Amino acid sequence: MKILVTGSSGFIGFHLSQLLLKKGYQVHGIDSMNSYYDVKLKKARLNILNKSKKFSFTKITLQNDKKLKNIIKKFKPKIVVHLAAQAGVRYSIHEPRVYLDSNIDGTFNIIEASHRNNVKHLIMASSSSVYGANRNIPFKEIDKTETQLSIYAATKKANESMAHAYSNLWKIPITMLRFFTVYGPWGRPDMALFKFTKGIINRKPIDIYNKGKMYRDFTYIDDVVNGIFLLLNKIPNKTQSGKYKNDSLSNVAPFRILNIGNKKKILLLDFLKEIETGLNKKAIKNFKPLQKGDVKKTLSNIELLKSITGYRPKTNYKKGINQFIQWYKNYYKKN
Ligand SMILES: NC(=O)c1ccc[n+]([C@@H]2O[C@H](COP(=O)([O-])OP(=O)(O)OC[C@H]3O[C@@H](n4cnc5c(N)ncnc54)[C@H](O)[C@@H]3O)[C@@H](O)[C@H]2O)c1
Repeated sequence: MKILVTGSSGFIGFHLSQLLLKKGYQVHGIDSMNSYYDVKLKKARLNILNKSKKFSFTKITLQNDKKLKNIIKKFKPKIVVHLAAQAGVRYSIHEPRVYLDSNIDGTFNIIEASHRNNVKHLIMASSSSVYGANRNIPFKEIDKTETQLSIYAATKKANESMAHAYSNLWKIPITMLRFFTVYGPWGRPDMALFKFTKGIINRKPIDIYNKGKMYRDFTYIDDVVNGIFLLLNKIPNKTQSGKYKNDSLSNVAPFRILNIGNKKKILLLDFLKEIETGLNKKAIKNFKPLQKGDVKKTLSNIELLKSITGYRPKTNYKKGINQFIQWYKNYYKKN
């Protein structure tokens, strides 16, 4: 079985590709290898994937629609998992245009190319940030999502709408995944766990927004990629209508939205405390007000994902943080 993974040199794409290869799938990865964060880290992930004979790769930006169509036409994937995007809420405040280019234009090209090449299941990354100013937690897929707080979140919401429209017009089965703060080894340098660990090790002050009074549903990377794996063959289809409680399945299209979370809200200060314990060093804390565009609390309801796939998140944040610290120390000793 052939699967195309976009953003394969990124954090989630790398781990997903590794899992798919281990399970015997043939994977074609695409990634622009852009310099939003340390390109060496992306190259190191790619080098690991390249060791597998079942992995092939093209360096390409999603905006290059002709080349993208050709790749999909040649590789003929049954499933496309679209994870490439300009990620990060904070960067979107000052660089909104990049988000429109990668996430709107780029995602449109993926949907269009998948449609033209008869892909059986298109799985795409959305984000918990689409819940925006929603106060009713835990967040459910069928809740209204009309109050995004950042351009990043707005582009993800737009992706969901575009995907629904295409799914309706051409009956292409699409599953949208709302990830909740994913963390773990090989994680992103712009995210809290990486920045806190680096700052503490180097005895540099770390910025803590909203004085640390923020809650996140931190979800360990292995749980996330396992969730995606369990969904590969759970193709949305109108015969499933009425089968699952609180289903987000569209009433007109083979289209569904799913949360992938851990279902626990952790106070940022507790998360930080655990990093300090793991490193056996205290952080120099630089408390800052709430960052524009940031959501104060996230928490997932994962009942729908559970009933469709049997998904059960396995890693608690204490264990997950320690796995990250081990990886971080080991990786930076060699690089
Ligand atoms: N990590 C999280 O906590 C989280 C939470 C919610 C949603 N998401 C979403 O999950 C997906 C994967 O996130 P991640 O954490 O692995 O991010 P990442 O930045 O590590 O990976 C994204 C990859 O996509 C590539 N890319 C970006 N723009 C591109 C373009 N125009 N053309 C081709 N390649 C491009 C980048 O080079 C990068 O390697 C993204 O869609 C992100 O928005 C992530």
